[in-house]
Amino acid sequence: MKTILLIHGPNLNFLGRRDPKHYGNLTLKNLETLMKNEAKKNGFIIKSFQSNHEGELIDFIQENASKAEGIIINPGAFTHYSFALHDALLDAQIPAVEVHLSSISKREEWRKTSVTAPACIAQFSGKKEKSYVEALKLLFQKISD
Ligand code: DQA
Repeated sequence: MKTILLIHGPNLNFLGRRDPKHYGNLTLKNLETLMKNEAKKNGFIIKSFQSNHEGELIDFIQENASKAEGIIINPGAFTHYSFALHDALLDAQIPAVEVHLSSISKREEWRKTSVTAPACIAQFSGKKEKSYVEALKLLFQKISD
């Protein structure tokens, strides 16, 4: 079966305890179950990974991209300053979609910029877990094109 990498950056292991106004009520485990079920219905497998460390996220991309069809990534706060993650996504040479639970364009000034989005084919933001489901649908389309 075809694999999609689902990558979560820093602090997303704390979902369920973070401000529900921005991040909703699902835990990371709930979110992963939702995504795995959606993927399975469409004949895909999700391989997921969370880390609070930039280098570990990059290592995961480098080690897994050649065996996968696409990436869904919430880079957390790395979104706003990690050029290294941007480069890793580009070098992966498979379609990546950036997702955010909260609406980064409507929050603090510093959150409005994403340095990782230019390495992605799309960004879904502000719809809590629905941002992730939309990203998955786009990748299904893209991969079967
Ligand atoms: C986030 C938005 C980021 O600005 C923040 O640092 C996060 C989560 C989101 O999903 O809304 O940790 O990526």
